[in-house]
Amino acid sequence: MIHYSEEDIEDLDKVFRINLVNSCTGYKSANLIGTKSNEGIPNVAVFSSIVHLGSNPPLLGFFLRPTEIFPRNTYTNIKENGVYTINSIYREIIDDSHHTSAKYDKNISEFSVTNLEEEYINKIYPPFVKNSPIKIEMKFIEEIKIKVNKCKLIVGKIVSLHLEKKMLEKDGFLSLNKGEIPTISGCDAYSIPEDYDRKKYQKPNK
Ligand SMILES: Cc1cc2nc3c(=O)[nH]c(=O)nc-3n(C[C@H](O)[C@H](O)[C@H](O)COP(=O)(O)O)c2cc1C
Repeated sequence: MIHYSEEDIEDLDKVFRINLVNSCTGYKSANLIGTKSNEGIPNVAVFSSIVHLGSNPPLLGFFLRPTEIFPRNTYTNIKENGVYTINSIYREIIDDSHHTSAKYDKNISEFSVTNLEEEYINKIYPPFVKNSPIKIEMKFIEEIKIKVNKCKLIVGKIVSLHLEKKMLEKDGFLSLNKGEIPTISGCDAYSIPEDYDRKKYQKPNK
């Protein structure tokens, strides 16, 4: 085994530390967040930190990097109008999805510089990503500042879900591999799982 002490980790080369710390906890979700400014400029960006926070009420959270140095258009738009969409990445759009992490000016929509297409459903203000197999309409609930590194946990409530029928199993489970939805490790590694094994609900001593 290779061992890194607390001091070793602090002394690591910056890029090596970013890659190491970003991949040491395992696979993450792969989604695009769609927003629109009050001026009407659409925005889409890749996020790998979207997590389930509870099912009743149905809450999802994501971690936002500090906004002090680089303004984050996703965050600014969410704060402007309180609504956003979460769209699962799928095999064919991995390259374009990854490119949305480039720091574009707020006046440039990532939809105009990639092959990602906007889709508007039921007069919902922010854009969905066309053909994404899982599309989630969200409303902003609260933000929690993490003092130690100025990141924020953005908490939102699911307002509506738009799903590819073939992925939905009888008990509500979504079969992500049927939609060829990737998972992200580190900052830049995308893989598509092929199989899974669902386990039974566990009771003590059984
Ligand atoms: C694979 C990947 C995952 C990312 N996940 C996050 C994330 O969870 N939180 C975050 O703040 N930025 C994340 N980013 C960075 C944003 O995509 C990047 O800051 C982007 O420019 C934000 O766009 P915006 O300014 O339009 O909001 C990620 C980037 C990549 C490549």
